[in-house]
Amino acid sequence: MKRSPIHPALSALAGAAKRQDFGEVEDALHVALRKTDWLRPEHRVGDPTGYMRHVLYVDPGNAFCMTAITWLPGQVSSRHGHHVWCVYGIAEGELTEERFDQKKVTLLKAGDMADRDLDCSVVHQVSNRTKRPIVSLHLYGIGADKLTTGINRSDS
Ligand SMILES: [Fe+2]
Repeated sequence: MKRSPIHPALSALAGAAKRQDFGEVEDALHVALRKTDWLRPEHRVGDPTGYMRHVLYVDPGNAFCMTAITWLPGQVSSRHGHHVWCVYGIAEGELTEERFDQKKVTLLKAGDMADRDLDCSVVHQVSNRTKRPIVSLHLYGIGADKLTTGINRSDS
């Protein structure tokens, strides 16, 4: 895979993820969610057949990747957990997260971060119950080689 240079607005976040400093990841993610210079017009377009991942950055050492996910109105993930650590938040729109491990439903708005999942204990389903697209920003502890199959584990 060709690796593109990181957008400057995401470099602090990538540095913190590389160091596995999750306190700093949280701080840098909050900044990136509020100052969305990294967000490109195509991130709002999405795929009518399902939520769409846009790869923003892949760590050259395959320690983590960063993706924007576009959720069109009505789109929903499967109920799932993760094989790897996951930290995410909302850049645009309002996302509903249902947590099955904690029996709670949270509405996440632009600038909000979901509870981080560092020990792969979260089981959730994420959906767009609004009439506008959502763009969320995700970091996963996985390399590009496993991006499509290595993040979500089914929980049915
Ligand atoms: Fe997830």
